[in-house]
Amino acid sequence: MVVAIFLLGFAVGCRRPPVKQPMALSHKRHMEANMKCVTCHPGAEDQALAQFPTVVECMDCHGKVRGDQPDEPRVREYAERQEEIPWVRVDRLPGHVYFSHGTHVTAAKMKCEECHAGILVATKPLVLPDIALSMEDCMRCHRERRASNQCKSCHK
Ligand code: HEC
Ligand code: HEC
Ligand code: HEC
Ligand code: HEC
Ligand code: HEC
Repeated sequence: MVVAIFLLGFAVGCRRPPVKQPMALSHKRHMEANMKCVTCHPGAEDQALAQFPTVVECMDCHGKVRGDQPDEPRVREYAERQEEIPWVRVDRLPGHVYFSHGTHVTAAKMKCEECHAGILVATKPLVLPDIALSMEDCMRCHRERRASNQCKSCHK
């Protein structure tokens, strides 16, 4: 399973070069601090797109020093400059495909990890996509879960 995810990531990576992220954020550490995904990614529950967190939300905890990781003080530097941290989005389906988080997370009651399997253990920010859902991957689950596989559901 892990190998398959790695290979898929690599296959997608071949199409697009790795991005550079502005800061060394670890999902694993933040999940160990009992955070919820939707606190940092509002919209992932009930809208098409998941948002990225704003620096104000980080300051709830990083208003004072937390731990001794080298990039941690940089959170306060961005906040003092009143600048957003320029995260780079890596998961992006081609423009002709329609996908909504809300349909899957709220209507179909799926957990984020069912698609974003590696996130809970990610100790570095993503520089390549963590998912590579091909048309066949989408359709396989839709067959199993009796969701629509009509072309116009996913291609508007
Ligand atoms: C609920 C509290 C909380 C919030 C909100 C929070 N963090 Fe953290 N953050 C932590 C904890 C706990 C650590 C681990 C500290 C340590 O090293 O022991 C941490 C560590 C970090 C580090 C050091 C590297 C790492 O990930 O361990 C960075 C960078 C960081 N946070 C950035 C952010 C950013 C950016 C945001 C906003 C998007 C944010 N944090 C929001 C609690 C929080
Ligand atoms: C402390 C805030 C925080 C929490 C909590 C958090 N994330 Fe993130 N997430 C980020 C930030 C910042 C980025 C951009 C940097 C990176 O890739 O790590 C990101 C990136 C991502 C990406 C890549 C999106 C893209 O296209 O670039 C996915 C997918 C993701 N998070 C899913 C999750 C899931 C699932 C959870 C819960 C298991 C979660 N996140 C919890 C802050 C958070
Ligand atoms: C059915 C699979 C699936 C589930 C479940 C899922 N995602 Fe995603 N996620 C995707 C796909 C596919 C993309 C790329 C979407 C696009 O390009 O339109 C994506 C993209 C993202 C992004 C990048 C911004 C965006 O919306 O494109 C973030 C952040 C993210 N997901 C977080 C989450 C979080 C948090 C959850 C749980 C609340 C979650 N995802 C549940 C499949 C899923
Ligand atoms: C692991 C299972 C799973 C995966 C993977 C998955 N889906 Fe779904 N999807 C569902 C389920 C279940 C529903 C039905 C939700 C409901 O109850 O309305 C659904 C519904 C949808 C709908 C609404 C269909 C309609 O017209 O009612 C669209 C569009 C969609 N998915 C697109 C996608 C795309 C695009 C992908 C691949 C990037 C994808 N899905 C991957 C399970 C999945
Ligand atoms: C459940 C969602 C879903 C359904 C249903 C679906 N597609 Fe797709 N389709 C996708 C996704 C996701 C991609 C992009 C895959 C990628 O980039 O790897 C795609 C890509 C394509 C492409 C571009 C091929 C390529 O190589 O990039 C064509 C053409 C296409 N679909 C036609 C169809 C037709 C015709 C139907 C109906 C028989 C259909 N699709 C039904 C999700 C779906």
